[in-house]
Amino acid sequence: MSDSHLDSPTMQIVSEFMQEPELMLECINLSKVYAEGPAEVQVLDGLNLRVYAGERIAIVGASGSGKTTLLNLLGGLDLPSEGTVMIAGMNLASLDETQRGQMRNRNLGFVYQFHHLLGEFTALENVCMPLLIAGTDVPSATKRGAAMLERVGLGHRMQHKPSELSGGERQRVAIARALVTEPRCVLLDEPTGNLDRHTAHEIHALMSELNEQLDTSFIVVTHDEEFASTLDRVLQLRNGKLELVAGPTKKGGAAVEQGEPPHAD
Ligand SMILES: Nc1ncnc2c1ncn2[C@@H]1O[C@H](COP(=O)(O)OP(=O)(O)OP(=O)(O)O)[C@@H](O)[C@H]1O
Ligand SMILES: [Mg+2]
Repeated sequence: MSDSHLDSPTMQIVSEFMQEPELMLECINLSKVYAEGPAEVQVLDGLNLRVYAGERIAIVGASGSGKTTLLNLLGGLDLPSEGTVMIAGMNLASLDETQRGQMRNRNLGFVYQFHHLLGEFTALENVCMPLLIAGTDVPSATKRGAAMLERVGLGHRMQHKPSELSGGERQRVAIARALVTEPRCVLLDEPTGNLDRHTAHEIHALMSELNEQLDTSFIVVTHDEEFASTLDRVLQLRNGKLELVAGPTKKGGAAVEQGEPPHAD
């Protein structure tokens, strides 16, 4: 076989397909025990997870099963009792508070279950905040923030403060704030729980668009089974561990084809 044959477009596609997909996030043997209350609560118990760049994962599970706890650990907002979280090749435990904040700002977007907007700032200022923290100048941040608010259907509410917005509108501001920096991985905790069907569909479409255009990874806690079934893998949190419910397709599928057992990690 000549070298020129190896350089052919077909071979390039084949070799791209054969490449190990880029690991975005990994947790190894993750455990979380809450010890502050009257009794110890073991929420996560030796959980493993690998998320590849561009993969979209749904996390489902009963109330109290630990979904928010898991997202907080993945985002470095809380520390595990045991185990390791790696984001873009960095071990979170090796970073101090400031470095963890920088890592979050560079790589992650976060949509909290209870949106946590800053009450004294307008919708636009809230959305621009992560860009300003990252050092973007005010005119560029304002332009990008306004464009993202338009995309979530809130172009007419930019100057409203959170207390002047409906629950669903606040949630959409929080989504715009998480996406505005075009992070590599977005963690969302029931992002469309408060939204009507039509608006929820628009947010899901926006997520698909970013996924296709920028290869953004999404890890979404959701009770919306129809939406979950459109993602690459559905994982259920039960007894402190993740179990595969559906998938994998796409990037996760490539990993499985290369010899990984078809379980959650
Ligand atoms: N700071 C804390 N101290 C003690 N226990 C906690 C703490 N935070 C959460 N828990 C307990 O850990 C368990 C998991 O909570 P978590 O918020 O992760 O659940 P969840 O799956 O997100 O539930 P939901 O679907 O209701 O949002 C719950 O039983 C909760 O009571
Ligand atoms: Mg929760």
